[in-house]
Amino acid sequence: MALNWYHKGVIYQIYPKSFNDSTGSGVGDINGITEKLDYLVDLNIDIIWISPIFKSPNKDNGYDVSDYYAVSDEYGSADDLENLLSEAHKRGLRVILDLVPNHTSTQHEWFKAAEKSKTNPYRDYYIWKKPDADGGPPNNWKSFFGGPAWTYSEQTGEYYLHLFTKYQPDLNWENPAVRQQIYDVMNYWLDRGVDGFRIDVVTLLSKNLDFDDIDENLGFRKVIENHYANGPKIHTFLHEMHEKVMRDRDAFTMGEGVGVTPENAPLYVDSNRKELDMIYHFDILENNIVDGKYDNVTEFNLVNLKSIFRKWQNVIENNGWIVNAFGNHDFARMVSRFGNDDLYHKESAKMLITLLSTLNGTLNIYQGDEIGMTNTRLTSPNQIDDIQAKNFYQENAINKKFSEQVALDMINNEGRDNARTPMQWNDSDYAGFSNTTSWLAVNKNYTSINVKDQWDNPESILYYYREILHLRKKHEVFYNADINELHHNHPSIYVYEKRNHEEMILVFLNFSSDYETVDYNFMQEYDYQVLINNYNNLDRNNECIKLNPYQSIVMQVNQAYNL
Ligand code: GLC
Repeated sequence: MALNWYHKGVIYQIYPKSFNDSTGSGVGDINGITEKLDYLVDLNIDIIWISPIFKSPNKDNGYDVSDYYAVSDEYGSADDLENLLSEAHKRGLRVILDLVPNHTSTQHEWFKAAEKSKTNPYRDYYIWKKPDADGGPPNNWKSFFGGPAWTYSEQTGEYYLHLFTKYQPDLNWENPAVRQQIYDVMNYWLDRGVDGFRIDVVTLLSKNLDFDDIDENLGFRKVIENHYANGPKIHTFLHEMHEKVMRDRDAFTMGEGVGVTPENAPLYVDSNRKELDMIYHFDILENNIVDGKYDNVTEFNLVNLKSIFRKWQNVIENNGWIVNAFGNHDFARMVSRFGNDDLYHKESAKMLITLLSTLNGTLNIYQGDEIGMTNTRLTSPNQIDDIQAKNFYQENAINKKFSEQVALDMINNEGRDNARTPMQWNDSDYAGFSNTTSWLAVNKNYTSINVKDQWDNPESILYYYREILHLRKKHEVFYNADINELHHNHPSIYVYEKRNHEEMILVFLNFSSDYETVDYNFMQEYDYQVLINNYNNLDRNNECIKLNPYQSIVMQVNQAYNL
């Protein structure tokens, strides 16, 4: 497949509320992002994805849009956005916005009209059903954020569907007027210079119209895969979106692939089908989450992770493209989940980015991971901000399924607020994010983990990110090459060789806090040169390599060696 700038580029996700506050409101904003563009260029980022900045009552931090054409006042103005786009483009950066087409806010004009009467022209913009015989919801569907997926609306005596909170009613994509409205929104922003969209829960747009009850024993993951996502018309809709919006544009779509598997992913991203340009799948992020978010988490298992990567390679081999990420605004911090945020904080953060940078696909980094930001610790339920965590606490602790402390511990380990604490720019008050108390408390470790300290320090995580992203830009073999994985069943070592028509690299990663010896036949000493190493030493002979805890090494096989 011919690669475009968006396949090759590195995406950096900005959660605007927590990135940089330029006004002293305690909330990040668009001008705050513009101020940091040079930082992102120096970091070797190519594309910025900004989580939603449209008008919203913020029940789900912007993922509940009340006007797709207006920038939310707390983030700034349309002019600020225009300025951001032009400043970004001047620096060679591209900008994609977060589009939320599956649902609106209940405060959107369409919903307010739809709610009033059954004959309103906007009624059919949403999904309404009569109560069942006992007056309850029309079926047993559950929301992603707990509780039923239906809410009763007094005004007309019917229920509306919401796969997320009750403030986020699902749009009815069967209605051509709805689809056209969303295409108009997309065209509007693309005409203003936006370079594409991350499309929120795009796989949910087409619903199974029978609305049958779901087997209560099916785990939530299967419910999503088989009932909520991948509906019967999804590919028709996405192809139509491509034709009506994306076809002749130098822009791209990255679909949030909730419920997508390596088997059905090619249907979304095979470039011949002209639907999405890439899919952001969840098998990596959810590799230790059995089912549902908090109470069904297993130990991290590297053998399993390796098999996930192998399976997703098939999508790329079949003309598609994927996005690899270890973190975003919906998950706990990557170094806390998959690394060791205590004794081997630096080493493990560097090792994880080495893996992500050398996988085929687009690399997606979440703000703050480049300095190794860690999970935060809430000491009381009053500190929870995220609606998903609040609902979980409410349903489980208050109703005594778990003790209050156990529920809070689960939220501390897995909750979304972990990733949403303000960006740690320096060690001054409020971490340099703002000059006042921020909307969500700054993580207390900002005095030791921050951009300023790390910027010029060659030992730092940030320095390593800059270096490895630079290497990735220079060597296509990092993100687009044949891959040969060795030692499949080793529980703590990940080793692979990658080669394309002109280069070959070897990657050695130690996922444990122990020293590990790996057999590898290096043949002749002079054939290999180290491109990057997160330790200063390299302990190897011709037959094996001894890795320090969380060590990561990328070696290049010299050109002279016969590929
Ligand atoms: C996506 C977003 C998440 C949001 C949900 C509903 O999963 O990433 O933050 O809550 O969709 O829009």
